[in-house]
Amino acid sequence: MTLIINEFTKPGIKKPIWLMRQAGRYLPEYKEVRKNFKNFLEFCYNVEAVKTVTKQPLERFNFDAAIIFSDILVIPDALGQKVSFQEKIGPILGKISKNITSKELDYRKLNQVYTSINELSKELGKNKALFGFCGAPFTLSCYMFEGKTSKNFENIKQLIYTKDKFYIDVINKLTFECATHLINQIKNGCNIVQIFDSWAGILHGEFYEEYIIEPTKKIVKIVKESFPNVPIIGFPRNSGNNYINYAKNTGVDGISIDQNICIKWANENLPSNILLQGNLDPSLLSCENEYLEKEILNILNTVKNRKFIFNLGHGILPSALPSNVSKLVNTVKNYE
Ligand code: CP3
Repeated sequence: MTLIINEFTKPGIKKPIWLMRQAGRYLPEYKEVRKNFKNFLEFCYNVEAVKTVTKQPLERFNFDAAIIFSDILVIPDALGQKVSFQEKIGPILGKISKNITSKELDYRKLNQVYTSINELSKELGKNKALFGFCGAPFTLSCYMFEGKTSKNFENIKQLIYTKDKFYIDVINKLTFECATHLINQIKNGCNIVQIFDSWAGILHGEFYEEYIIEPTKKIVKIVKESFPNVPIIGFPRNSGNNYINYAKNTGVDGISIDQNICIKWANENLPSNILLQGNLDPSLLSCENEYLEKEILNILNTVKNRKFIFNLGHGILPSALPSNVSKLVNTVKNYE
């Protein structure tokens, strides 16, 4: 495990690779396990099922890291908000309770996640890393206040523009609980963690400072107080120019960038001490095409001399072809 973490943080050597959502519906063996659970969160809290699907992509492809199979919405669930998943719609959340800020995390649920991590960390080969993760407070709040994946984020924006006191209290509560969740995952064997801020790109200016930069900075500070050497990667998706702000001001060790950012721009504009991760367009994996290899090589040629982890710009799609994933991994591994 130490070997791979050193590799993650050194420029100029072979680049490691893993893919966001690498355990998922593009794999028939995943669907086999998935069909045993009506309720997606029950699946996330089932230690044997979680261990099985977390390992599946590493059995098929030569990835350098596993990511614990879980979901960012385990935190609202463990705080007592109703969370369900509907096929073809996504997550549906019940109304947020006014006393959520005084609730404690339900460890009967989260301990299942930590047990899975503990056992997996012993079963994975010693040169495979194990990622832990959490949703960032802002992205979690989007689901908790909108109740679903939103188009225009009207509720959230009204709460922000009116400086709603309860909303701010919830952000502070989530900041603390997300840091705790990351620390518990590290204590149980994760050796690198990622903070997913999928909706960061809808905020700008002072709102980006207050709800993206500040909570992330606090999480990084709390986690680093206990584990100064565990790398933290932030993924403030669709942040555009704000990726520079995020890289300079949150204290993260690495930044995952989406496919709408030109890799050359990222390489030139994001500080060279910051590890980059990304940013192949996930759609390139969904059909046979001549651009896949071209784009992979373009990324690799650009980031030759910096700390880099190859990944997609967002999660892998259910339509991805496993043969394209093999091709991707082989191209990265054989690159000189
Ligand atoms: O990366 C991995 O392989 C680890 C597992 C993982 C899942 N969700 C499993 C999952 C991770 C890291 C996440 C993060 C997550 N969850 C995010 C942040 C990253 C992103 O995609 O923006 C968000 C916003 C969520 C919330 C969430 N969970 C949504 C919007 C959905 C529905 C979308 C869909 O693909 O159906 C989920 C469900 C979910 N989480 C699935 C998986 C594999 C699909 C559920 C299924 O198999 O039926």
